[in-house]
Amino acid sequence: MENVTNEKLMEEAKKARLMAYAPYSKFLVGAALLTEDGEVFHGCNIENAGYSLTNCAERTAIFSAIAKGKKKFSKLAVVCDTERPGSPCGACRQVISEFFTPNAEIILTNLKGDVQLTTITELLPGAFTPEDLNG
Ligand code: THU
Repeated sequence: MENVTNEKLMEEAKKARLMAYAPYSKFLVGAALLTEDGEVFHGCNIENAGYSLTNCAERTAIFSAIAKGKKKFSKLAVVCDTERPGSPCGACRQVISEFFTPNAEIILTNLKGDVQLTTITELLPGAFTPEDLNG
């Protein structure tokens, strides 16, 4: 998929949302991740009877892409059914920060169509990064 627009990526995130496994919260979240070479990976939240084992949509998308050998990403879209555009949790912000360049586009949306464009720098200022491990 070349030239994937924000609108298209949000549509992909909505499709991904419908795959959510969320029998406990019933709160469905979808994510669509665009790789630098134009591929789109879907992610949804996957819950578990051991509640703390839940994996969020954003991390599912990133981990799916990593498992396919992709590590360079240009955009991420996230959608859920909320009043404001979806907002990634703290754990997902940390995982996004591992793989996203500071200004890569993150598109937050909801089912009403509100859209917030942001970056990982805005979402997680002062993140702990791989560079910090090198002293
Ligand atoms: N959830 C996500 O998938 N992404 C987020 O950024 C926030 C929360 C999921 C986790 C859980 O399955 C449900 O939403 C309610 O917290």
